[in-house]
Amino acid sequence: MNYQWYPGHMTKARRMMQEDIKLIDLVIELVDARAPMSSRNPDIDELARNKARVVLLNKSDLADPAQNSRWAAYFKEKGFHVLEINAKTGMGVKSIGTLVQEACREKIERDRRRGIKNRPIRAMVVGIPNVGKSTFINAFAGKACTKTGNKPGVTKGKQWIRLDKNLELLDTPGILWPKFDDQSVGMKLAFLGSINDEIIVMQELALDLIESLKKSYPGLLAKRYEIEEEANRVQVLMNIARARRCFAKGEELDYGRAATLLIDDFRSGRLGRITLEVVS
Ligand code: G4P
Repeated sequence: MNYQWYPGHMTKARRMMQEDIKLIDLVIELVDARAPMSSRNPDIDELARNKARVVLLNKSDLADPAQNSRWAAYFKEKGFHVLEINAKTGMGVKSIGTLVQEACREKIERDRRRGIKNRPIRAMVVGIPNVGKSTFINAFAGKACTKTGNKPGVTKGKQWIRLDKNLELLDTPGILWPKFDDQSVGMKLAFLGSINDEIIVMQELALDLIESLKKSYPGLLAKRYEIEEEANRVQVLMNIARARRCFAKGEELDYGRAATLLIDDFRSGRLGRITLEVVS
């Protein structure tokens, strides 16, 4: 399938983010641990130049644990402060406070030298759609947080969530759009559900997923659905349809249903913890 996507509000969102980034010290970037490269827009490195940086490998519960460690090491080597988290359960979220302090050590030192005490660090959460930004903000900020009002002149129209005396978070996340120069990036994002499903042909997506899983996790589909994992991917989808009794009318197989079932099983983690790209 040819994966293409032209979101309507891309330019506006980017402009907003450019403005918001001026107000903050630290960028907390969420990536999807199942495809940490494809799910980040490299433009953020340019946009967030001179800012402290944290990368969170979110949905780490759905990704391959061994690959999570490799990706964490990869980002650390690039100079980011990194954590594996699960925003849905809150796993890892408690450690972020310490990570933020580490990431902003220079700024804290600079403030101290200038005699500025207790100026909170200001942070902003960014990431592509569906990566878990809202879930993360809720988990991180919790219920106990207080929303601070507009601060005239400085943060006109902006809402900040005061997490503690050291940290304030912009309450609206920055939305980045994935980059689509490479078809395989589009394909992985479609597997993850980060591209609007309405523009995706589910059956073709399922066939691409079968091909990809057969290569990186051979035997996994055979085990999950108790089927033959044959060379021909259409045959594999047919086997899944038969194994899961996806029939249209009579004995006719319903490939659409089988495709949706497979994609849902992948996205929800029922196929196991899978990472779609490895550190090269
Ligand atoms: P966004 O703001 O970046 O667009 O993402 P959002 O928080 O809306 O999260 C998108 C989906 O990802 C939600 O699922 C959310 O529950 C899920 N999610 C976020 N973080 C994690 C995580 O670390 N692990 C897992 N397993 N899932 C995560 P949904 O199906 O849209 O909603 P719901 O049915 O979970 O409420």
